[in-house]
Amino acid sequence: MSSPSSKLDRNSLPAHVAIIMDGNGRWAQNRGLMRLMGHRSGVKTVKKIVTAARELGLQVLTLYAFSSENWKRPEQEVSGLMTLLKSYLENELSTMLDNNIKLRCMGRKEQLPTKVREVLDTSIRKTAGNTGLILNLALSYGGRSEIVRAARILASKCAEGTLHPDEITEDLLSAHLYSTGLPDPDLVIRTGGEYRLSNFLLWQASYAEIYITDTNWPDFSKNDFHLALENYQERQRRFGRTGDQVQKQEPL
Ligand code: IPE
Ligand code: IPE
Ligand code: MG
Repeated sequence: MSSPSSKLDRNSLPAHVAIIMDGNGRWAQNRGLMRLMGHRSGVKTVKKIVTAARELGLQVLTLYAFSSENWKRPEQEVSGLMTLLKSYLENELSTMLDNNIKLRCMGRKEQLPTKVREVLDTSIRKTAGNTGLILNLALSYGGRSEIVRAARILASKCAEGTLHPDEITEDLLSAHLYSTGLPDPDLVIRTGGEYRLSNFLLWQASYAEIYITDTNWPDFSKNDFHLALENYQERQRRFGRTGDQVQKQEPL
């Protein structure tokens, strides 16, 4: 029997895949384990999926690792997540360097514990010259506050007189988001079966294809990732046009 991943067309892969890695807590609770064990198991999935993305030659992989709302969780869970994040970054730096992976992050980095911020900054700096997969971690990230931040930057330029309000375009606003310079996500995957965005990439995902699977993040495999990409390849991206126009390959 051929593996489902063999159907994947390597020539029409999305440039940017973004993942809402959900379901760690339920995965653990279903097994009578502490929620933190689910997060720990989720880190293993992160490693697998980063490898899979790199092997496929994707340009950008964005992972929603901690939302601006996740600070509301019990203190013990938050500190456990921060410890896991720090050790993930420390342990993976050599793999990132060996595999030409460039680390980036999006979110309110200043809210992260100093020790986490330090390893994050070091890894970003040490991988800055890499030209392969961009691994973009969303940390203390919220889509609304990202847009507000961009609005404030633009508003202060207007107040200073270096920018005219008429010069504010979609491209200019995009350039003031954390994701500046990255292509918009083509595909957003959510594991854990919830049908919501949870404040993720509200601006950037405006035309992303969305794929939701019931599989919890710790169980999400390379094969599941390939299945999501195959599903993406079956979609017709219309960007407002008719299906006929797309088939005739009329320019956008
Ligand atoms: C996602 O898993 C990881 C983070 C939000 C950090 P959850 O912890 O939200 O898992 P569930 O949704 O409770 O199962
Ligand atoms: C979204 O998951 C955030 C991350 C995966 C980091 P949540 O579990 O926090 O989302 P909600 O609260 O169920 O919407
Ligand atoms: Mg959740």
